[in-house]
Amino acid sequence: MCGIVGYKGKRQAAAIIIDSLKRLEYRGYDSAGIAIFNGKAIEVHKEKGRIIDLEKVIPDISGTVGIGHTRWATHGRPNKINAHPHTSGDIAVVHNGIIENYQQLKERLSQSGYNFVSETDTEVLAHLINYYHKSDLIEAVLSALKEIKGSYAIAVLCGNELVAARKDSPLIIGLGEGENFVASDIPAILKYTRKVIFLNDLEVAYVDQDRVTFFDTEKREIEKKVNTIEWNLEAAEKSGYEHFMLKEIHEQPRALHDTFAGRIYELEGNIVFDGLKLTESRIKDISRISIIACGTSYNAGFLGKYLFEQLSGIHVDVEIASEFRYAHSSPGSLVIAISQSGETADTLAALREAKSSGCRTLAITNVTGSTITREVESVIYTRSGPEIGVAATKTFISQLAVLYLLALYFGKIRGKISQDRMKRMLVSLKHIPAQITRLLNDKEMIIKFASVFKSSNDFFFIGRTLNYPIALEGALKLKEISYIHAEGYAAGELKHGPLALITQNTPVVAIATKGLTYDKVVNNIKEVKAREAPVLAIADEKDSEIEKYVDSVIRVPTTEEIFSPVLSTVVVQLLSYYIAKARNCPIDQPRNLAKSVTVE
Ligand code: M6R
Repeated sequence: MCGIVGYKGKRQAAAIIIDSLKRLEYRGYDSAGIAIFNGKAIEVHKEKGRIIDLEKVIPDISGTVGIGHTRWATHGRPNKINAHPHTSGDIAVVHNGIIENYQQLKERLSQSGYNFVSETDTEVLAHLINYYHKSDLIEAVLSALKEIKGSYAIAVLCGNELVAARKDSPLIIGLGEGENFVASDIPAILKYTRKVIFLNDLEVAYVDQDRVTFFDTEKREIEKKVNTIEWNLEAAEKSGYEHFMLKEIHEQPRALHDTFAGRIYELEGNIVFDGLKLTESRIKDISRISIIACGTSYNAGFLGKYLFEQLSGIHVDVEIASEFRYAHSSPGSLVIAISQSGETADTLAALREAKSSGCRTLAITNVTGSTITREVESVIYTRSGPEIGVAATKTFISQLAVLYLLALYFGKIRGKISQDRMKRMLVSLKHIPAQITRLLNDKEMIIKFASVFKSSNDFFFIGRTLNYPIALEGALKLKEISYIHAEGYAAGELKHGPLALITQNTPVVAIATKGLTYDKVVNNIKEVKAREAPVLAIADEKDSEIEKYVDSVIRVPTTEEIFSPVLSTVVVQLLSYYIAKARNCPIDQPRNLAKSVTVE
């Protein structure tokens, strides 16, 4: 996720672009840049860090047309060279999205004499547009985009011409008086105009000072509706959602789509990882995996244990990072550190400890260039985009997605998964984002349950096997944002102690999706019902039996048993959110907690 801005009008472009980029920093902030046409040529200025760092290095540039970018790195480290805009001859491009076939295009363009200076996928686009550019910029952009696989929102500058286009990444056009704007999101331009046109996939806009013209992929002109935005700036930053957490929960289909981009080839039954430096023979030799992480990332790792054990036949120990170094445990031959921020001190300390024992290391993180990425052999990025809410949501879902892919990939190499099974599983996995969207469109029951039980002092989340980590995550989410005491329990363990706490005042959320232990979970539900606990079940949409045993049911779409925890996750996130909202809690910044914990 990155932020892009374009301007053409009567005022000095640089100041407006910088101001607009500042409002998009929630989309990325590892580096930034602008390109301005100064009447003779395009001037490009870039800097590592935030917009404020870029501002310090920009000279006085005179020019009334330009583009800008704030980056959240996916391909290539966050540095000045990889920062956008990327240029090729007289073309400058800013891009948000992922170009999946950039390696193939890069090879082809290199053979045609194009010189690549960055590690980004975007530079391919600049060269490709240059390659097709004879006299008509729109035609060049359309020809280039026809060759792109993946997602993009782009703004292209060539002399004083400005063109914008999108596919699977957001882009809007703002209409002013004698000036027009391009932006990734409404807050960027709300100060200048409230008249907005939403670009649809595969549409292209030619942005002039007094007019914006829209085209389809065949360069046929199209009519677009002008919308008037009524939101204030604060609401606009959250895209109209009341909290960043809710916005980020809703971004999960998009986040998963990006995590999968360029990695899943379901027709061939293949998975491809860019940052994995483990050869097939090393993967075959892995004797044991240790996963180290904290908090929500630990819960993701815990599900990872089940996945690696079931799909690739490798034994996994999951270790709480802050305990690992004092437990004197000997790490497995592969250590996987999971950290959204890549900066968590406990995880780093545990990783260093494991490294000193000579094991191979792999990190799963969301932040390119973070400390953890510099200390491991292999990095797999979750590509969720920046997460502002302290409670991890979309980054958790993306961590799960990476773990599924890794476990499947290892399983195939180790001969545990046939090509046919792989294809089927990848098809099911690719359906998950759309299934999450369905869940997000039907929150009524969750909101109702939240309002009935908002005043409870204690909650239990129970599940077995694959659902147990999600029970832990549900309890963690509820604790941190609603301040209600909650326990995540393996459902079969209740009778060994905690059942003594169950009364009519302890609501129980039972994850009871269909699968190996379904009947056992139903028995556990009966145990708590016998103690008069109100029970909410998270169950399969086709399960017509479960309502006999519980008070309320939230249905999740049917998928393979192994993928159902992803869908149940969304339910426990929403449940926690709506309970916290009903209690008027400061959801995005819970008391005593920080987004990144950099002390041990
Ligand atoms: O950045 P990390 O993933 O390493 O952070 C670990 C935990 O601090 C984090 O997951 C925390 O538990 C979440 N904010 C909870 O929602």
